[in-house]
Amino acid sequence: MLEYSQMRIDILTLFPTMFCGALQESILKRAQQRGLLHLVIHQIRDYALDRHQMTDDLPYGGGVGMIMKPEPVFRAVRTVLGGTQAPVILLTPQGRTFTHAVAQELAQHPRLMLICGHYEGVDERVRERLIIDELSIGDYVLTGGELAAMVVVDAVARFVPGVLGAAEGAHDDSYAGGLLEGPQYTRPPVFEGRQVPEVLLSGDHARIARWKRAMALQRTLVRRPDLLEAASLSAEDEALLREFRRTLGEPDGVE
Ligand code: ADE
Repeated sequence: MLEYSQMRIDILTLFPTMFCGALQESILKRAQQRGLLHLVIHQIRDYALDRHQMTDDLPYGGGVGMIMKPEPVFRAVRTVLGGTQAPVILLTPQGRTFTHAVAQELAQHPRLMLICGHYEGVDERVRERLIIDELSIGDYVLTGGELAAMVVVDAVARFVPGVLGAAEGAHDDSYAGGLLEGPQYTRPPVFEGRQVPEVLLSGDHARIARWKRAMALQRTLVRRPDLLEAASLSAEDEALLREFRRTLGEPDGVE
C-alpha cells in the first residue's frame, strides 16, 4: 500500500454552513474519507470574547459598511494553530490572482489556513500581523471570501498526492501543460447525426496523441492565445500554430 502524506486546511469563517455540501461530495469527500485531506471549518464568532460576540464594527474615519474586528480573528488563528507553522491566507479581491500554478505551490505545504474576509474588509492589523498571502479568484467582488476559499480548497486538493485516482490524473487537464484541453468524446459514436472524429476510433495511439495535441493548440489559440506565450512548444507545435493562424486569418475560415 502506498503511503500518502495528508494535507490539513483550516478555514476561518463567519458562515460555516456555507461549506456544507460543496466540500462533502465526490473527490473531496473521498479524499477526506481516505485521510488524505483534513478540512476543519472554524466559526470566527466563537472566538469573540465580548457579551454580544461582535465580529464587526464601524470603520474609523467614516465610510460605508462594517470592518471585521481584529480580536476574534487573532484569537482564532492563534488558538487553532497553537504554535504550529502554516501559511495564513486571506481571501480578498485585493489578493494576487489564484491560478493553476498557485494551487500547485500551495499543495506543497502540509497545512494551510484560509481566512474568509467579509463585509467591507478586515482590520489592517490582521493583514500586517497574521496574513502571509492574499488571494483573489478573479476580478469581481463576491459577497465574502467563502466561495473563493472553496475554489482554493478544491483546486489545491487535486495536487495532494493520491487525491485524484489514476483515471482522474491532473496531467492532461487544461492548464497542466500550459494549454487548454481539446474536445473530448464518449459513447455513442454517432449522436444526433454527429460523429466522433474518426481518429479517436482508430486505435492508432501515436496518431491520436498528435490529434489531441493539435486540438489543444487550436483551442488555446482561439480561446486563450495569451497562454501560448508561457507554454513549452516544440517545433512541430509552432508549425501547427502557424498553419492554424493562417487558416483563421482566411476570410471564409475554411476548416
Ligand atoms: N472576496 C470577495 N471577492 C473575492 C474574490 N474575487 N476573490 C477572493 N475573495 C473574495
